Amino acid sequence: MEILVSPGPDDTASRAAEVVLAGLRRPGGHASVLGLATGSSPLGLYRELGRAVAEGRADFSTTYGVALDEYVGLPPGHPEGYRQVLLREVCGVIGLAPERLEVPDGSATDADALEAAAAAYEARIAELGGVDVQVLGIGANGHLGFNEPGSALASRTRVKRLSARTRRDNARFFTGLDDVPTHCLTQGLGTILAARRLVLVATGDAKAEAVAAALEGPLTASVPASVLQWHPDTVVCLDEAAAAGLRNRQYYDDSAAGLPGT
Ligand code: GLP
Repeated sequence: MEILVSPGPDDTASRAAEVVLAGLRRPGGHASVLGLATGSSPLGLYRELGRAVAEGRADFSTTYGVALDEYVGLPPGHPEGYRQVLLREVCGVIGLAPERLEVPDGSATDADALEAAAAAYEARIAELGGVDVQVLGIGANGHLGFNEPGSALASRTRVKRLSARTRRDNARFFTGLDDVPTHCLTQGLGTILAARRLVLVATGDAKAEAVAAALEGPLTASVPASVLQWHPDTVVCLDEAAAAGLRNRQYYDDSAAGLPGT
């Protein structure tokens, strides 16, 4: 794991954008695949990617965007459905073509249809050649995507029940807690681990405890984000507040400084 700590959220976002761009360069002209997270954590990163496009340093016009998750049971076009959120917060900002945005289809309400939608999503990711760089945020309870504590470490895309904590955290996007869906379709932890690079962005002191547990605690389903420790190319971009609970901080800073003379 590479753990990069920046003074504040803005520097964290620009550092994360460079890490994402470096990971997306695919040899052979194959269209790159960017894994997209919702939530407030990656918004600054998307803004920085948009800036890179404006400056001619990046071009996402042929890139595929692959969402981590989607609510189950929201009517199509609901403004808080993750397809709509990603159209607004990513496609519109970085110039990713809406027809190249892949989101699990959570519109069904019966178990068989949802299971089929989950399998179709896994097949679509495979058809695209896998995810080059997966952007991630972390839930205050350590969730990744919507893989709540207790999620199998090798899980693939499937239906999950949202925890009470996650529904409360996300109630701010709805008119009230009762309107927050109870279930979702989410890439599994095994699906996420199959991406070639993982980039976690976390800022603010509300994330410090989850970040410390994920990066320095045991690898456990109780802290789904601890699977980041298992991946050979994980880059974690934090600000000082989110890094406040890390014990081995000095080592991470020394490592980020690179080889002597470089
Ligand atoms: C949601 C998303 C996660 C995201 C989390 C944290 O639950 N499904 O992918 O990481 O929110 O959101 P925020 O970045 O707003 O704290």
